[in-house]
Amino acid sequence: SRQAMIDPFGRRITYLRVSVTDRCDFRCTYCMAEDMTFLPRRDLLTLEEIDRLASAFVEKGVKRLRLTGGEPLVRRNVMSLVRSLSRHLSSGALEELTLTTNGSQLSRFAADLADCGVKRLNVSLDTLDADKFRAITRRGDLSVVMAGIRAAQRAGIAIKLNAVALKGFNDAEIPSMLRWAHGEGMDLTLIETMPMGEIDEDRTDQYLPLSQVRQDLSERFTLTGIPYKTGGPARYFRVEETGGRLGFITPMTHNFCESCNRVRVTCTGTLFMCLGQEDAADLRTAMRASEGDEKLREAIDEAIARKPKGHDFVIDRLTRKPAVARHMSMTGG
Ligand code: GTP
Ligand code: 5AD
Ligand code: SF4
Repeated sequence: SRQAMIDPFGRRITYLRVSVTDRCDFRCTYCMAEDMTFLPRRDLLTLEEIDRLASAFVEKGVKRLRLTGGEPLVRRNVMSLVRSLSRHLSSGALEELTLTTNGSQLSRFAADLADCGVKRLNVSLDTLDADKFRAITRRGDLSVVMAGIRAAQRAGIAIKLNAVALKGFNDAEIPSMLRWAHGEGMDLTLIETMPMGEIDEDRTDQYLPLSQVRQDLSERFTLTGIPYKTGGPARYFRVEETGGRLGFITPMTHNFCESCNRVRVTCTGTLFMCLGQEDAADLRTAMRASEGDEKLREAIDEAIARKPKGHDFVIDRLTRKPAVARHMSMTGG
């Protein structure tokens, strides 16, 4: 069946996130523990298998495809995958092919990405202070990421910065990040920390409701709601003083699951129907069962038929026992 994917709540699935590796060259404190065990390489899908899987989804109506990780650009030979997937842009089947990246490898890959039809990238950047950047990523170098961002911009790629809002870490810096991002022609999206995967700290202490951030910002800036839609969960505002766009991703204070349009596949071919639930489907076995995609399509249909209504991330699950055991880096958000 190649009919469109529509879940039991009538939501059309048109957006696929594919995590191409669980590995990352950073260890952001809110995302990973210092000491992470990564999957053995033999468990990974090959790049050809990732292509086959993603292409099956495109055939079933996915219009936007986002590669994530871990850090997608640390997967060996990842550009051959991007290049291959870009055929779906050329054919018109896909409207957007993009990545969410920490920016550490962008200097090297920006031109190739642009050449493959990548028009927009989301770069995770939680602070503009080099020492704080090192502290939050545990091993990142801000100047390398900045160079990567510039390389992407020079290549003509639009950048959206993602910053997880963390109390006592970057809250005081949000106005200056906003001025800087907008001054450089980039969008900025703020994100509420989500209770996924055990980390070395208690997220309760870092939690910052974006409703409060928005109120604080409103005293210094004029925020006008705009209908701008990327296909993602952010709600956007125009900041009149800067002329730029500011997005809010609010899983904790304002649930957006009702309009969910997405599913995600891990680098082992596991399909998660919801970021905030444990239920998953093994697409690797279905794919490897035969050369044709019939089994794979059946497995996808069965999984979509049980896509949950939404996450149950609630404030009191921000404690040491997170709502969802797997780390964000398994599904790339
Ligand atoms: P665009 O809107 O296409 O720019 O991307 P996006 O915001 O959907 O993706 P991105 O990878 O930049 O993710 C930003 C944040 O949104 C991350 O923290 C993700 O975990 C979070 N996010 C993305 N999709 C979902 C979702 O379906 N549910 C929840 N709860 N969070 C999501
Ligand atoms: N809560 C919210 N966002 C997170 N990210 C990673 N871990 C978390 C979390 N626990 C963000 C990253 C990146 C995106 C893919 O997910 O900062 O921008
Ligand atoms: Fe890596 Fe992204 Fe997780 Fe940071 S948030 S450790 S950059 S996967």
